[in-house]
Amino acid sequence: MMAKSILVTGGAGYIGSHTCVSLRNAGYEVVIVDNLCNSDASVIDRVEAITGKRPVFLQFDMCERDELRKVFQRHSFAAVIHLAGLKAVNESVSQPLKYYRNNIEASTMLLETMDEFGVRNLVFSSSANVYGVPDSLPVQEHFPRYATNPYGRTKLIIEDLLTDLHSADSRWRIALLRYFNPVGAHESGRIGENPSGEPGNLMPYISRVALGKLPYLHVYGGDYPTEDGTGVRDFIHVMDLAEGHVSALQWLEMSPGIAAFNLGSGEGHSVLEMIAAYEDVCGRKIPYRIVARRPGDIPASFADPSLAQRELGWKASRSLHCMCVDEWRWQTVHSAQNA
Ligand code: UD1
Repeated sequence: MMAKSILVTGGAGYIGSHTCVSLRNAGYEVVIVDNLCNSDASVIDRVEAITGKRPVFLQFDMCERDELRKVFQRHSFAAVIHLAGLKAVNESVSQPLKYYRNNIEASTMLLETMDEFGVRNLVFSSSANVYGVPDSLPVQEHFPRYATNPYGRTKLIIEDLLTDLHSADSRWRIALLRYFNPVGAHESGRIGENPSGEPGNLMPYISRVALGKLPYLHVYGGDYPTEDGTGVRDFIHVMDLAEGHVSALQWLEMSPGIAAFNLGSGEGHSVLEMIAAYEDVCGRKIPYRIVARRPGDIPASFADPSLAQRELGWKASRSLHCMCVDEWRWQTVHSAQNA
């Protein structure tokens, strides 16, 4: 039987590259479209080194409709995993138009092209950000959604757009995956997260401090109503998250319709717990200072992932320790290569 071919938009990014590895492991052919605005082409070599097969890679911006149409003319896709998009909350507040164009216009273009070529199976990368400040924990998929920043609003709008699309044409099959906090790296140490400039997210920041590239971590808020006063999040190993996409694809094949799924571990860990787990693994002290809360942060968020377990047959299995081990391996290999 011919292997099924999957288009992965944003496939050279952090979540995308790990998802491509999981897709290859599950026997799918992978075609990546990425404009490399937040990644680089060496990721394709690394995915090849891990999986033994080079994904097809096309570098262009999703807003280029003619390029997109050519890809659909050349390949026959079983489904699309749509990850391409911008994701920096702060930047979205200062440059909202960039977010609306990159995230919403590109998605519309993709959907029109999919429809034209009769490819109507889609896995979309949404975010736990759509829950705003949750009323209670753990967060369930039916909780009210609202955006607290333009980035979150683009995710919310695309979720609504996809729901409208499915109402208009029931041939569409759509999984909306709401990611919690992906961290860690592939166990090979060949791919991982490497933000340019000063990292905005916790794990990459801790890594830079552990490597001695930054002097200390700012812990944003020590007075939250949590056990140790610091923020609590649902950290999920990026390979668990990647495997969730494969499960979602398999679900699409069996289940007509549209549904949202939380992809989280179901466990909340505080910033201080994360620091301690990382120190254990790297064998170094992570100096930190508790400073004021970061505007827009919520005290605590963690998922009820039971719907994904029931419907997709997927469950996160890698521990916080494992997330730190794999992150540290990636960081040490990567910084040695870039020294
Ligand atoms: C952030 C984004 C969210 C996005 C997610 C995905 C914001 C407000 N939210 O989520 O929209 O979907 O990333 O990557 O940016 N922390 C520190 N010091 C740091 C960095 C973070 O103490 O230097 C704390 C935060 O206050 C928070 C926790 O660590 O309590 C996790 O922060 P982060 O990794 O940025 O993720 P989120 O804020 O949950």
